[in-house]
Amino acid sequence: MPQTAEEFLKAFHDNNPGLQSVGVAASPTAKGRTSYEEFADRVGTPERVLDLGCADGALLEVFAGRGATTLAGIDLSGAELALARQRPALVKADVRVGRAQELPFEDSAFDAVVSHMALMLMTDVEQVVAEAARVLVPGGVLAVALGGGAVDGEGMELFLKLARPYFEAARAAERVMPRLGNRAIRTREGLDEVLTPAGFAPVSWDSIVLDQGGTPEKVWETNMSVFYDVTVLDEDQLAELRREFLDAARSLVLDGRLACGMRINFATTHRESSA
Ligand SMILES: C[S@@+](CC[C@H](N)C(=O)[O-])C[C@H]1O[C@@H](n2cnc3c(N)ncnc32)[C@H](O)[C@@H]1O
Repeated sequence: MPQTAEEFLKAFHDNNPGLQSVGVAASPTAKGRTSYEEFADRVGTPERVLDLGCADGALLEVFAGRGATTLAGIDLSGAELALARQRPALVKADVRVGRAQELPFEDSAFDAVVSHMALMLMTDVEQVVAEAARVLVPGGVLAVALGGGAVDGEGMELFLKLARPYFEAARAAERVMPRLGNRAIRTREGLDEVLTPAGFAPVSWDSIVLDQGGTPEKVWETNMSVFYDVTVLDEDQLAELRREFLDAARSLVLDGRLACGMRINFATTHRESSA
């Protein structure tokens, strides 16, 4: 039986817990702020927060630091949640293994529902959004951080250009990973199309750029941790792609540094009172 998207994500995160939050911490904006901090700024200071796809609790910890008193999270991966439970700020947090499509929380239990780089990976996103609306108080905030792609002419774009033929060769050899999530919600219009019928107002939308630059070797490692697709490549393919990448990167390096930026889009909205 082929693996489903959720089986793939659970296995990946059970095998690599903490990978995402370490990567985010190592890639602040030009102003030195993490994507979690920037995202939380757009949400404000809610008392009761639920994080969909909370992984190791890095974002919940930011909300704890901003005075949230009820912190909850859900994730497919028990290994990620085990790390979340080790954070002193989250000892009282209610983090559960489960699916965001079936939230084990009461109606109107939260002032904010947030999701950082996770909603875009979820299957049946309409059901997730309906559940978010159900557990939010009327007027409550829904905030979503979505991958916005590579900055042109830099290390991530180069990596993707070189990796594409490898991904295609793997597909031709039937080494495939399941399709993750719904790409349509990565645009403002596509997201509104899913949110509006569930009773949310049109989103506010803005973007930041995370700085993932460094030595070409560091940029290679970053790209390895950002793209789930690299799991379909075998050792030889990875070694060959790495050689190609480091060779091609030479012409872009300035003072030993390869620029590499990744955009994150933030969308915030609220549950309309009549929903
Ligand atoms: C790219 S990681 C982001 C983790 C975290 N939000 C962060 O930014 O540090 C995506 C997370 O979403 C979780 N996830 C994906 N689909 C899910 C679903 N349907 N229900 C709950 N969690 C899910 C994965 O297990 C994974 O931990």
